[in-house]
Amino acid sequence: MLFKQQALLRQKLFVLGSLAIGSVLYLVARVGTLDRLQPICPIESRLPPPDPEQIPLRTLQFKRGLLHELRKGNATKEQIRLHNLVQQLPQAIIIGVRKGGTRALLEMLNLHPAVVKASQEIHFFDNDQNYARGIDWYREKMPFSFPHQITIEKSPAYFITEEVPERIFKMNSSIKLLIIVREPTTRAVSDYTQVLEGKERKNKTYHKFEKLAVDSGTCEVNTKYKAVRTSIYTKHLERWLKYFPVEQFHIVDGDRLITDPLPELQLVERFLNLPSRISQYNLYFNATRGFYCLRFNIVFNKCLAGSKGRIHPEVDPSVVTKLQKFFHPFNQKFYQITGRTFNWP
Ligand code: A3P
Repeated sequence: MLFKQQALLRQKLFVLGSLAIGSVLYLVARVGTLDRLQPICPIESRLPPPDPEQIPLRTLQFKRGLLHELRKGNATKEQIRLHNLVQQLPQAIIIGVRKGGTRALLEMLNLHPAVVKASQEIHFFDNDQNYARGIDWYREKMPFSFPHQITIEKSPAYFITEEVPERIFKMNSSIKLLIIVREPTTRAVSDYTQVLEGKERKNKTYHKFEKLAVDSGTCEVNTKYKAVRTSIYTKHLERWLKYFPVEQFHIVDGDRLITDPLPELQLVERFLNLPSRISQYNLYFNATRGFYCLRFNIVFNKCLAGSKGRIHPEVDPSVVTKLQKFFHPFNQKFYQITGRTFNWP
């Protein structure tokens, strides 16, 4: 009898416990989905005036809500008009450097309520075919945003492509340009690793990094190898400086973006004249990934794709030293021009 009563009590406690947990889970999910609900009154009347100094965190929630619908293609033309949404040309572009951490930078900046990112690399200025399609084609590739938000796109090939500075200048001579760099030898190895992975996927063989980076005839660094050339940052930057003053560039430390992203993001916020809104809450270290990941709110967080953060092959230390010596004078010049010094060897 006593045993039966105890069993009944346990059953009741189990039901009550399940109800309580269910309610908590519902509330947590509700907080997240509230962001995605369509607002019932015009958004302008709910938002404070579009003064960039006054952008509230609530804007982030609206941004996550409505823009999510837009991305899925669910928003109607009426909703777009009602909410005063526009497709704006970018006010800032991450022009490179390939494998510098361009994707991480774009995604992290997109945490800011006043920033909207173009998700894909558009390759408008470096691809002649795309460029011939004209500026309206480019604008249509941009995401919807509120007029007070800024749009950012990234196409790392811009940094090294001859025609790009002039083309961007013709679109907007006062545009802000972001360049994210890593220690040049590490960046070259990262570049090699990406190409190697592509070859392996197609069951193709590929040379070792050492063979590509060093000319076997002269034993000198092979400057014809693209991964080496791309890491000579100063050479590329000098071409850009024929069109834009140095104040229009901001250099991001890609190595620090990996280990301690927040201070780097705060420098970018300042460069873009945005109020500081990205906080440590938005960034958390994921030990499994070995990288910082992004937290948008209590329920929505994400890490970058697995193609970001590949394991690099081991490189002969003598080749590493040779490359580091080769890059050294170029790095010095880069520090001098940009006013940003790194502890590169
Ligand atoms: P590796 O794959 O060599 O580690 P890009 O986006 O320009 O191609 O740069 C890729 C690099 O971004 C990666 O290079 C990785 O180290 C770096 N990175 C920086 N922050 C990262 C993050 N939070 N998650 C994943 N990769 C990150």
